[in-house]
Amino acid sequence: MNGTSREPRIRMPAAAAPTNSGGDVFGGWVMSQVDIAGSIPAVLRARGRVVTVAVERMHFRRPVQRGDMVSVFADVIRTGRTSMTVDVEVRVDRNPADPETLTVADARLVYVAVDEEGRPRPLPRDT
Ligand SMILES: CC(C)(COP(=O)(O)OP(=O)(O)OC[C@H]1O[C@@H](n2cnc3c(N)ncnc32)[C@H](O)[C@@H]1OP(=O)(O)O)[C@@H](O)C(=O)NCCC(=O)NCCS
Repeated sequence: MNGTSREPRIRMPAAAAPTNSGGDVFGGWVMSQVDIAGSIPAVLRARGRVVTVAVERMHFRRPVQRGDMVSVFADVIRTGRTSMTVDVEVRVDRNPADPETLTVADARLVYVAVDEEGRPRPLPRDT
């Protein structure tokens, strides 16, 4: 996945994110952004409600620091009857005085299209 060539699904400063005892941003905050961003292409593909059924992989490559600008890229890479596998990449822009962009995490999640009762529903035809 080449995040620099596409628009991020979400982008926000890690200004008020909770930190761990080492002063880096808490991994659970990053996972939450990953789940939100991953759901966006899934909802678009499913044309409606989805739920997360699995986090197949979550790799924290480098710490996120307070003050980083966080961008989360996500794409559906595979579809089944009701499910969609989404690859997510998290990048940060750090230190505006001497800017650098770093990939800090990547993940693979599976979402399922559901109906009003929360039951799996077949994906609509891809147009
Ligand atoms: C997602 C949910 C609706 C699936 O219901 P289910 O009765 O297990 O449905 P199925 O067994 O028919 O599986 C539906 C699809 O999910 C896939 N799936 C189920 N469990 C999976 C897993 N652990 N990993 C990957 N895919 C999985 C199935 O392969 C199937 O895909 P397909 O239709 O494309 O072949 C149900 O498990 C659920 O509501 N889970 C809670 C979701 C939730 O609350 N998420 C937020 C957590 S905080």
